[in-house]
Amino acid sequence: MYQLIDGKAISRQIKDELREKVEGLRAQGKEICLAVIQVGSDPASSVYVNNKKKACEYTGIRSLAYELPEETTEEELLALIGELNSREDVNGILVQLPLPAHINEERILLAIDPARDVDGFHPVNVGNLSIGRPGYVSCTPAGVIQLLKRSGIEIEGKECVVLGRSNIVGKPMAMLLLRENGTVTVCHSRTRNLKEITRRADILVVAVGKPGFVDADYVKEGAVVIDVGIHRDENNKLCGDVDFDSVAPHTSAITPVPGGVGPMTIAMLMNNCVEGLR
Ligand code: GUN
Repeated sequence: MYQLIDGKAISRQIKDELREKVEGLRAQGKEICLAVIQVGSDPASSVYVNNKKKACEYTGIRSLAYELPEETTEEELLALIGELNSREDVNGILVQLPLPAHINEERILLAIDPARDVDGFHPVNVGNLSIGRPGYVSCTPAGVIQLLKRSGIEIEGKECVVLGRSNIVGKPMAMLLLRENGTVTVCHSRTRNLKEITRRADILVVAVGKPGFVDADYVKEGAVVIDVGIHRDENNKLCGDVDFDSVAPHTSAITPVPGGVGPMTIAMLMNNCVEGLR
């Protein structure tokens, strides 16, 4: 029987630990404050931003919400970021992605002070991660490491295969597994003999963005499978990149969708806000 990795419970545990820390900091007169900027009203973004606000309330972090109209110019957004960068009372700045097409995402992410970049998207933080220096780490892959550790799954010396090479998940995921002394392989759309490689994995992290992409053929008996994907199927039901029913019986541990990696992203965002307090 496999272990079902409970991301909801683990994320709650992390948020409870953070709530205590935030309370302790408040007792010393230190408040933590996260600024969240959304441009336009993409419905999925609104749901994410709202969940971030709720997590702030739960953990005792002050949140500043900036809901800017779709027509906001790049210059206006840069001016707001500049103002937040200079505010002593703002610890974290997050610009919800995607941005409207007329705004250059790279310019915006580069404008955020790396010391306030709680998403871990700034090249300074990406570079720090790659050379083992302290810095902010992208929340979803950081959450995967916490899921593994808090489920008693050892990473050191294990064959870890990451499926997907995005800047937000695949690449930082590989760096983090390497930092934990895993032996790491990154696969992507041009990888040859994909199943041969994924079947070597003791730990398989799937972040390909394709519903049900990984079936039992990709998985070694007894592997740990982490599913980063989130989609809606033809019946409007949430599903991941992994065909759970086919894969789960062959694993030793697996994350469900929903209730696996999803809730961890926001918990790690809260963690970045608290641990990054200067
Ligand atoms: N859009 C989807 N996921 C994320 C995220 O983790 N951070 C930001 N800023 N935008 C997102």
